[in-house]
Amino acid sequence: MESGAFHYCSSVLLLIISVGILLFPLMVASIGINYGQIANNLPSPEDVVPLVKSVGATKVKLYDADPRVLQAFANTGVEFIVGLGNDYLAKMKDPEKAQAWVKTNVQAFLPATNITSIFVGNEVLTFNDTTLTGSLLPAMQSVHTALVNLGLDKQVAVTTAHSLAILETSYPPSAGAFRPDLTACINQLLSFHAKTGSPFLINAYPFFAYKANPKQVPLDFVLFQPNSGIVDPSTNLRYDNMLIAQIDAVYAALASAGYKKLPVHISETGWPSRGDEDEAGATPENAKKYNGNLFKLMKKKGTPMRPSSDLNIYVFALFNENMKPGPTSERNYGLFKPDGTPVYSLGIATNEGVSNATSFGGPTPESSGMPNTMPESSSTGYLSISSSSPERYHLGVGPAFFFIMSMVIRLVLY
Ligand SMILES: *[C@@H]1O[C@H](CO)[C@@H](O)[C@H](O)[C@H]1NC(C)=O
Ligand SMILES: *[C@@H]1O[C@H](CO)[C@@H](O)[C@H](O)[C@H]1NC(C)=O
Ligand SMILES: *[C@@H]1O[C@H](CO)[C@@H](O)[C@H](O)[C@H]1NC(C)=O
Repeated sequence: MESGAFHYCSSVLLLIISVGILLFPLMVASIGINYGQIANNLPSPEDVVPLVKSVGATKVKLYDADPRVLQAFANTGVEFIVGLGNDYLAKMKDPEKAQAWVKTNVQAFLPATNITSIFVGNEVLTFNDTTLTGSLLPAMQSVHTALVNLGLDKQVAVTTAHSLAILETSYPPSAGAFRPDLTACINQLLSFHAKTGSPFLINAYPFFAYKANPKQVPLDFVLFQPNSGIVDPSTNLRYDNMLIAQIDAVYAALASAGYKKLPVHISETGWPSRGDEDEAGATPENAKKYNGNLFKLMKKKGTPMRPSSDLNIYVFALFNENMKPGPTSERNYGLFKPDGTPVYSLGIATNEGVSNATSFGGPTPESSGMPNTMPESSSTGYLSISSSSPERYHLGVGPAFFFIMSMVIRLVLY
């Protein structure tokens, strides 16, 4: 009897283990999320831990190094990218200041909170501010040197996040190229990445392309819905959504700069659930499709150009942030409302069942008036249409589709 029960148990255990092993490749999905805090009504960081877990996210990107958040996530297994805002760059050129910052904001939380990277500056190059741009690499170098001195450089990487607008060309993906006026600066950054082994981060928003030209840009192509896709005429690779095409454009730009092996991570992408009247596509239905499909995509691997690469994607964003300036969409990228309820159902199965947030007791007054030292921007990557010479490649498809895609291309490019 006892022995029978034992056998039964051990078989069940074996079954669980084998199923676990079989399912493992599906479960290693690493879902990242941006935790922006430009708001005065967000729940306390302790209450955010279950929310992050409810969507199955294992990686969180902060725009600062908020000690309350880093403390709240201690021993949760969640990995962190912490940020150093653009207004810190000039100061961080000083190696002593960089070392003091790393000690206080990174070293103090390790190893309980798993900080794996520091991103120095957000979308710096596309501000066209020569002083700011000139401080970027020296700041990254000081921060890296500080990590070396503290013996942390093997576990904490140093990088920066770019807007997709650093590309001059992004279509077809194989023609991806950096803006010529930025190439000297980018080449130095790329050399830094290659030497220190850190990834190249890009913020990419197919929403901007759609919003700028909703009549021409096929909605299904930007929302990862079934559609006929496009074929890159020089590689014959097929793309069925704009985000992956944008990632490959970055890979192509890196390859032509001589950095074929550098990994690309998507540090921000998302879709707003509300917008102004002139912001076509900003609806809960579209946001649900974009982000729901994105969560499914994050469980897969690779792009047509880099099939075995990891897709490292950070969704923007965890919360609607009521104090962000700009159009209405800027305050409505969140998966969650400040009270912790979902803005829409993502419809995804996660570790903890179907995503459904627990509710919070409303806004937490103690978090109001919190300083927002970090300029956070998802709008600086805005891609507007500009007059440009007609595209000259041939897609090998019908003229209407060619027209549509050439519009898409312009949107993506300029
Ligand atoms: C932190 O994250 C890295 C990257 O995934 C992982 O290799 C490492 O084991 C983690 N460290 C801890 C203490 O969990
Ligand atoms: C920066 O310069 C580029 C290239 O000259 C231009 O296309 C872009 O609009 C400028 N961006 C800003 C924010 O001024
Ligand atoms: C999700 O929450 C809503 C109310 O907030 C509730 O009606 C629904 O039953 C919940 N669904 C799941 C799967 O827990």
